[in-house]
Amino acid sequence: MKLSKKILLVPLLLSTTLTSCSGANKAYAVADYRKTLVYHDNFKIVQLTDLHYGVSTDFDEANAYVTKEIKESSPDLIVITGDTFMNSNAKIVNKVVSFLDSFDVPFALTYGNHDFQGDYSSDYIGEVLTKTKNAVFVDYADDDIYGKTNYFIDLVNGEETKYRLYIIDSNSYWQSGLFVGYDIIHEDQIKHLEKIAEEYGKVPSLAFFHIPLFEFTDANNLYKEGKIEGTGTNEEKCSVGYQKSDAFLRMKNIGVKGMFIGHDHINDTTLLYEDVILSYGMKSTAEIYHDKIGYASINLTSSSLSLNDIEKVVLK
Ligand SMILES: [Fe+2]
Repeated sequence: MKLSKKILLVPLLLSTTLTSCSGANKAYAVADYRKTLVYHDNFKIVQLTDLHYGVSTDFDEANAYVTKEIKESSPDLIVITGDTFMNSNAKIVNKVVSFLDSFDVPFALTYGNHDFQGDYSSDYIGEVLTKTKNAVFVDYADDDIYGKTNYFIDLVNGEETKYRLYIIDSNSYWQSGLFVGYDIIHEDQIKHLEKIAEEYGKVPSLAFFHIPLFEFTDANNLYKEGKIEGTGTNEEKCSVGYQKSDAFLRMKNIGVKGMFIGHDHINDTTLLYEDVILSYGMKSTAEIYHDKIGYASINLTSSSLSLNDIEKVVLK
């Protein structure tokens, strides 16, 4: 993501306690991370991302964008891929979560690198979300998996899971000496995903997280050379994690057909890379830097996912 002057003024809270567990490192059963929703053909997911609600937000403007995005698309499920908050406080969290809940549409959420830069504990957003009527959300403050959201939503038709949505925390920052980079999805998180697939079966799946994998850069290079199919344009570099991992391959191996991220606000490509769709969301409010504002719509049909099933809708 492009660091504007505004962002540089925001203190980076680099404590590892922000993303790691604070409690007893309890091992929960895989079943405890599972949510279900009833699937139907043309199940529509709307991905919102990087809302960046904070103390300097123009709430009328931001809420007007979000309202339009949800009302216009009328989704079966909203998935928010991180940075819902930045430079925020508990009152804002309460207000925004209650606003999101007011649409009476199920919504899932994972975190970005900025969500915990606020005047509240690292468990606060999760606590507020779990009290809502419509959040489809799991976070255990005392579990033994790195990060906060490591849950999954099975879209079911009777006993059959037609699609699975992995809601993954790609964490925030990584620091070694003076070097500060973005974190990655950790090894134990990937193992947890593999355990889910082992216990509940390998089904067509989508993964939602915030920070791009290295494969997003590789795919964009191939796209620019005309070697792979896709749509959209990346107008800034893909701000990947501090090191390459095998997360892409291992997620692909458990049936992930599409990966949906945020983080780089003016990138909006949807690319078909090694049989997996790699897709940026669209920045969904005008906060921070905001050349493109809108949402991504994902239309699920049968058990395949193609580039045509994903539409980026630009409001501004
Ligand atoms: Fe962001």
